Amino acid sequence: MSLSIVIMAAGKGTRMKSARPKVLHKLAGRSMLSHVIETTATLHATQQVLIIGHGAELVESSMRAAFAGAPLQFVRQEPQLGTGHAVQQALPVLPDDGITLILNGDTPLIRASTAQALVDACAGDKLALLTINLADATGYGRIVRDAVSGHVLAIVEHKDASDAQRQIKEVYTGVMAAPTAQLKQWLARLTNDNAQGEFYLTDVVAFAQADGVTVVSAQPVDEVEVLGVNSPLQLAELERRFQRTQADRLLEQGVRLADPARFDLRGSLQVGRDVDIDVNCIFEGQVSLGDEAQIGANCVIRNAVIGKGVVIHPFTHIDGDTLGVTVGDGSLIGPFARLRPGAQLGAEVHIGNFVEVKNTTMAKGAKANHLAYLGDADVGERVNYGAGSITANYDGANKHRTVIGDDVHIGSNCVLIAPITLGDGATIGGGSTVSKDAPAGQLTVARAKQVSLGGWQRPQKIKR
Ligand code: UD1
Ligand code: CA
Repeated sequence: MSLSIVIMAAGKGTRMKSARPKVLHKLAGRSMLSHVIETTATLHATQQVLIIGHGAELVESSMRAAFAGAPLQFVRQEPQLGTGHAVQQALPVLPDDGITLILNGDTPLIRASTAQALVDACAGDKLALLTINLADATGYGRIVRDAVSGHVLAIVEHKDASDAQRQIKEVYTGVMAAPTAQLKQWLARLTNDNAQGEFYLTDVVAFAQADGVTVVSAQPVDEVEVLGVNSPLQLAELERRFQRTQADRLLEQGVRLADPARFDLRGSLQVGRDVDIDVNCIFEGQVSLGDEAQIGANCVIRNAVIGKGVVIHPFTHIDGDTLGVTVGDGSLIGPFARLRPGAQLGAEVHIGNFVEVKNTTMAKGAKANHLAYLGDADVGERVNYGAGSITANYDGANKHRTVIGDDVHIGSNCVLIAPITLGDGATIGGGSTVSKDAPAGQLTVARAKQVSLGGWQRPQKIKR
């Protein structure tokens, strides 16, 4: 039986008080809508239909960029007259046979297994609702059941509910699965004769009951799956709950997080054995940490492969972007180091404070310990790169490479004007501005000769 997925994302999100459409606000580094699309993409539906309206162009272009090549369909809802009206807009693209699963774009943490359980409960001939019992059900649609049989009779929106109905703790989560053919008939019968003057999707429940279609319910495994976001406060709270879940999973794998409440993962993190992560670290994109890696406090690491036994001292920023960064086994990085895209460090490399490395390979045992820049360079084994030295890799129009052989010693405050090659074992005297290749094994100095002037008098302060 074919499955169609409909994700509602047309609403305004007024309480976010933001120019950005609500569903594009981020949770763990990705838009809320991306989470829902990614999760439901695993259900093998024949189509995923997004209902968009508020900020439609931006929502559509963002999702097309995030899910390039995915068969997403976009349907406009203008104006937004309620959740039932929203789904009505999608009906022309839904095939009659099969099941339609409806979700909200502002409820990002729904699990695929929960959504699948609801589709299974629908089984093509029942209306299946995802419900949950809440201590405070204010604002939610209440599940009204027959007192004797326990069958679901209707969903009554909070604003339309009687005092007695408002005592009901079981609420509709915004997720349902329905036989598509019947759903089409029910939606055709909706009216907006209610407290909000909207076409309520939830009214289909009473129609199903009247038509003799069984209404069944299922519950999520975890409450967090059905928490919707309407305000920055709710978004921040859901972010912390999600981060805590991720932190707990890492702790269970043996990672020692100094404080699971001060940990942020916005992507995926692979970890070896005996990894230590101090407080306030942020991991983004795809990061892997080898056995015994130690990450100091306040590091930001994105798209990087960190080797075995690497020590990253506090306040280090690593951003591999699209090229990636690799740090070889046993390397020492930071504090206050910056590794940029294409930094490929071999084993036992040392990068110290205020050193920036970009699009550069460094072979085993190379060191740049203080205040330096290495851009577009290939650095040999055991090179010592002095404090304050830089590669002048950019001539104002093009980037050029610097090639540094094995065992080269570069003094402090050198400028290496690329393209340039320093042969194996070369020594560059401190303060040199080197614009020509330096031969292997020799001392190269390119600076004014030191002179001392005898009989020179210091100026005296003039007395008036
Ligand atoms: C809805 C349910 C309520 C349920 C609650 C769970 C209805 C009538 N009520 O209420 O029973 O307890 O969700 O969170 O369905 N949207 C559109 N177009 C519209 C209106 C809304 O696309 O015209 C989208 C919104 O962007 C949002 C979703 O539908 O993603 C839910 O809309 P919202 O207004 O938040 O519904 P609730 O009042 O919370
Ligand atoms: Ca809502």
